[in-house]
Amino acid sequence: MVKTIFIGDVQAGKYDGQEVELMGWVKRSRGSNKIRFVVLRDSTGVIQCVVKKDAIGDESFEQVKGALIESSIKITGMINADERADGGHEMVATSIVIVGSVNPEHPFPITESAMKAADGGETEFLLDNRHLYLRTSRMTAMLQMRSTVFGAIHNYFRDLDFTEYQAPNFVAGAVEGGSTLFEVPYFGKKVYLTQSWQLYAEAAMPALERLYTIAPSFRAEKSRTRRHLTEFWHAEMEVAWATNDEIMSHGEGVVRKIAGDLLENRSTELESIGRDLELVARYADSPYPRMRYDEAIETLQGMGVDVEWGQDLDYSKEKVLTQDFDVPHFLTHYPKIAKPFYHRVDPDEDKYVLCHDLLAPEGYGEIIGGGERTWSEAELLARLDEEGTDKAAYQFYIDTRSYGGVPHGGFGLGVDRVCSWLTGADHIREVIPFPRDSRRVSP
Ligand code: 4AD
Ligand code: MG
Repeated sequence: MVKTIFIGDVQAGKYDGQEVELMGWVKRSRGSNKIRFVVLRDSTGVIQCVVKKDAIGDESFEQVKGALIESSIKITGMINADERADGGHEMVATSIVIVGSVNPEHPFPITESAMKAADGGETEFLLDNRHLYLRTSRMTAMLQMRSTVFGAIHNYFRDLDFTEYQAPNFVAGAVEGGSTLFEVPYFGKKVYLTQSWQLYAEAAMPALERLYTIAPSFRAEKSRTRRHLTEFWHAEMEVAWATNDEIMSHGEGVVRKIAGDLLENRSTELESIGRDLELVARYADSPYPRMRYDEAIETLQGMGVDVEWGQDLDYSKEKVLTQDFDVPHFLTHYPKIAKPFYHRVDPDEDKYVLCHDLLAPEGYGEIIGGGERTWSEAELLARLDEEGTDKAAYQFYIDTRSYGGVPHGGFGLGVDRVCSWLTGADHIREVIPFPRDSRRVSP
């Protein structure tokens, strides 16, 4: 049987005065030997159900009294609009079936007192119980907003006739430098988990011209910051014939679309976790300015930050720089020495590359990295040599230049980062169901 009635619709007033069946989980329960107030939750909301012994009979009533938190139940009853009730409606039960009960010997472990008493602190306790923590209203809202973000990205690219394209996750070479590669034993050889879809997307660029993906990427990040995971979801795109400016327009377009879709479809969830909707509206409606790396360095130095020209900007620097941004800003023209071989050298001034990072405001920092690619074969070979990179693993990549190379570019957007910035989460692990970092791969 497929469920047809959701609590959200009941609370929206669609079933006033009707008898309906609800299915869900017990969030709270209290009462006496004659009447119980069971707060039921499902994926769409909560509602209080008034359960009277007289109405449902002695046997059922005893079962309801024994139904602990997170027991699953089916409950039939009348829906009454009542201003005093949470959500504006209440159910008066006529029958109840306990579907999955909870053993009193091990009640639902996530309680206020257990969180306070936990040896390793509340955060670790909740991560240990992540599989159950997903059921809380905060995580439910996060996961629903995350789904909206994924949908917005797919829709942005599909509306523009991009082809969705998949690359392998086992790879022979690095994209983003060797320091964050995960090594995997592979039938007597060593291979790596991919850091990015990009190189394999560039191989398909002459076939598809406009392509995108949303896929996991892997980075052996030892540092545990509020925006780093070892396994993260990466939305990447690649476009033939495109310039850095055109790629930035797509980056701005997709981020504004995500903000807009969240606002349109998930404002209740955003508000439920305390997000200021005006900020999200601003990120959807306002254009994103562009500034050069050099200007950012000067700004930081002017603020007394110890930073030198030539360094890539890490989290601590981006945090300071973006604290006063009102909207995301693109930083362009990073020094060549700060970026990997695939970034195209600026033909006007060869100490820069034609690249961009999109830095989110509120002290968040980088959410997108992208730019034009080194597209001539000669330049690519020179860049690999300059970096001292062994070319063997990149022969297929060099071939894309040897056979009709064209200017092209693309970007990668950290989906979990965008979720955590737009929802105002304190930490990236709040927005992914089972976060992975250097210390944790379970549950
Ligand atoms: O800037 P990155 O390293 O760029 C690339 O991987 C390019 N190959 C993408 C491309 O042009 N196709 O990573 C892109 C984005 C970052 O801006 C960040 O949002 C996210 O991926 N990211 C991470 N997100 C979470 N945890 C991590 N450890 C991340 N590393 C990168
Ligand atoms: Mg980057």
